[in-house]
Amino acid sequence: MADIEKFEKQTASEQTDLIQQYYKMQSRIYDATRWSFLFGRKEVIRQVPLSGDTTGSIVEVGCGTGINLQYLAKRFPQASLTGLDVSGDMIQLSQKKNRSIQDRLTLLEQPYARGDSPVSNPADLFLFSYSLTMINPQWSELIEQAYADLRPGGYIAVVDFHDSKRGWFKRHMSNHHVRMDGHLQPFLNKHFSPVHDKVHQAYLGVWEYLVYVGKK
Ligand SMILES: C[S@@+](CC[C@H](N)C(=O)[O-])C[C@H]1O[C@@H](n2cnc3c(N)ncnc32)[C@H](O)[C@@H]1O
Repeated sequence: MADIEKFEKQTASEQTDLIQQYYKMQSRIYDATRWSFLFGRKEVIRQVPLSGDTTGSIVEVGCGTGINLQYLAKRFPQASLTGLDVSGDMIQLSQKKNRSIQDRLTLLEQPYARGDSPVSNPADLFLFSYSLTMINPQWSELIEQAYADLRPGGYIAVVDFHDSKRGWFKRHMSNHHVRMDGHLQPFLNKHFSPVHDKVHQAYLGVWEYLVYVGKK
């Protein structure tokens, strides 16, 4: 079955089950390994043009082990933060890592889904860091939900795999539940006005990754 067809057939609950299963083991080696290929995570947070003294609300969808929540807490020391993740194993690690900011951090073990908003007031910023390419085929619904959950003038920040000219690499990534077909960038640009929109090469072009900030 072509990889894209495999992704198109997944229901949201199948996607959740697969990811929860995948991160049971991967969560144990996540921070020790991902620094070597999840590039651009600090860059995307640096590029968000929100004031450092914002007291607004920031949501990370697929917060994983919580490394970006740490960066966000440092850059926005007065903002309230919410991290969502379907994997309880990842949420537990995030909890441990972010004890020092627990008074302004809410961690939710749940998928982000259309029509099921985790925020009671519109957010200032939504961050998706290497999560959208794993959320198949619901990624487009989630971008639209983030649009609905943002205040006017709020921002979406996305860092993720973009594309690769190497078929073997795309197949390898698809075995790790990642779709990389350059599909995020045009969809983001349809909904948001880009304030930062860069595609970078990794390892001399084995793959490309997208660093994107858009304004609602
Ligand atoms: C590659 S990790 C990225 C983690 C973190 N954002 C980072 O940059 O290190 C992808 C994360 O997205 C989470 N995830 C996958 N599907 C999800 C969904 N539908 N809703 C919320 N989180 C999801 C996974 O459990 C995993 O923790």
